[in-house]
Amino acid sequence: MFIRRASWRDHVFIPPLVEAAFGRHDEGLLVRELREHDDIALEFVATDRDELIGHVMMSRLIGPEGCLALAPVSVHPDRQARGVGSTLVRAITEAAEEEGWTAAFVVGNPRYYSRFGYEVEAATDFDTPFSHEFTAACVFDPDQFGSLPREIIYPAAF
Ligand SMILES: CC(C)(COP(=O)(O)OP(=O)(O)OC[C@H]1O[C@@H](n2cnc3c(N)ncnc32)[C@H](O)[C@@H]1OP(=O)(O)O)[C@@H](O)C(=O)NCCC(=O)NCCS
Repeated sequence: MFIRRASWRDHVFIPPLVEAAFGRHDEGLLVRELREHDDIALEFVATDRDELIGHVMMSRLIGPEGCLALAPVSVHPDRQARGVGSTLVRAITEAAEEEGWTAAFVVGNPRYYSRFGYEVEAATDFDTPFSHEFTAACVFDPDQFGSLPREIIYPAAF
């Protein structure tokens, strides 16, 4: 398996992979719309012998400024539960920290995302359109994070 930044050559292959992973069209559509509106800040793919087997991306939130949304994370159904998703989430989270973002939010299973540093407690006092129970944050700059407005505003595609 090889992890790298997504390039424009990958764009056409990504929505079908995302749709295969989720078994429906919604998340593939989300990826297309976020790209169309230039909301994507970071994007990685996992490949095996030139075949696309995994994908992950982070989008710029409208608010709070300097923060990202991790979504979606997709691994081809034939390749799940073998560490591909974990490797992708670790790679993109490290890249977000290195690039100087303040924090990344995720909506998902807390048991899965806590292993990568995404904590539900860090996001509890933020207003969000999604469930608090499944909203977690990975904080890269605690000082900056502490002074952010407490409202998460997602790009319209969400
Ligand atoms: C969720 C997903 C990205 C995980 O990637 P993966 O390569 O299969 O998983 P990994 O091998 O890195 O990690 C395995 C762990 O993920 C857990 N896992 C697998 N699918 C999961 C899911 N849908 N929700 C929560 N946890 C999940 C496994 O139980 C396992 O947990 P354990 O280590 O405690 O046993 C992948 O299974 C997938 O694409 N699923 C369908 C799409 C989806 O639900 N994406 C996540 C929401 S954005």
